[in-house]
Amino acid sequence: SWTMLNIVEDAVEAVRNQVQGGRAICALSGGVDSAVAAAIVQRAIGDRLTCVFVDHGLLRKGEAEQVERDFVAVTGVKLRVVDASDRFLKALDGVTDPEEKRKIIGREFIRVFEDEQRAIMADGPVEFLVQGTLYPDVVESGGGTGTANIKSHHNVGGLPDDLQFSLVEPLRTLFKDEVRRAGEELGLPAAMVWRQPFPGPGLGIRIVGAVTRDRLEILREADAIAREELSRAGLDRHIWQCPVVLLADVRSVGVQGDGRTYGHPVVLRPVTSEDAMTADWARVPYDVLSRISTRITNEVREINRVVVDVTSKPPGTIEWE
Ligand code: XMP
Repeated sequence: SWTMLNIVEDAVEAVRNQVQGGRAICALSGGVDSAVAAAIVQRAIGDRLTCVFVDHGLLRKGEAEQVERDFVAVTGVKLRVVDASDRFLKALDGVTDPEEKRKIIGREFIRVFEDEQRAIMADGPVEFLVQGTLYPDVVESGGGTGTANIKSHHNVGGLPDDLQFSLVEPLRTLFKDEVRRAGEELGLPAAMVWRQPFPGPGLGIRIVGAVTRDRLEILREADAIAREELSRAGLDRHIWQCPVVLLADVRSVGVQGDGRTYGHPVVLRPVTSEDAMTADWARVPYDVLSRISTRITNEVREINRVVVDVTSKPPGTIEWE
């Protein structure tokens, strides 16, 4: 629309004025905020922006490709991709405690990003760090501006706070729905623009038990089926998010094909919510649940049971970890 076009153009102009002839870096997460912020800065300063995508191996099916291929094709962003999944898995080896997992994932992310930053700065100084801060984040943190004061709490994008960068925050005045419309205006992939909230630590906190490559693969397949069926049923906008959780240390007996199986359950956790502070379990129609259950147990050999979480928040959180 006319107004959205203006919002994007004004943001591009503001970035141009701020950065002048300088260089900037931006960490992409696969989410809409960092993607829109990067696309705006790219329009403003082109190749003087370098984006970094740390693939921690904990993303859902297709999400890494969305960043590496589709996002780059649409925006022309200069991107460095780091496949760091080995490193993250090694660091997570045998770890089952949720907060420990978060700490490790956050720490490794910062280390990888710092290595990349050093490599980028070998070509010359970088003065600016791009962040996808939204207006509600600004209000929440007291409206401060200027230097890097990054909330590490809820994002793997939580960057080290001793970095000497000036922040570029092109989304500072926008609400989420405006960011999504800006994303559409910029031609970003719909799956990115409309992605439901997804935690920075990714599937790492949706495996109850230790994180392994095999378990991630199983969960990725089950999650993709659930997302596909919920979308097909037109429930994307009705549901706030739907974590799919692998109970990797639980086994139950089943019968699949001709034989007895001893497999794992997955939990579907569809919720409705306004802001994730409180939530209710979503009343997903039985026939949709039935299709998800049938497909997962048919298509993912290791899973022989699908259960639905009917707990509101509080007392249950949205995630299981
Ligand atoms: P809970 O599970 O606390 O989740 O009800 C509330 C919202 O926050 C997301 N979440 C996270 N996001 N890093 C993130 O970036 C995290 O460690 C994290 N833990 C929970 C969750 O998906 C939900 O949207």
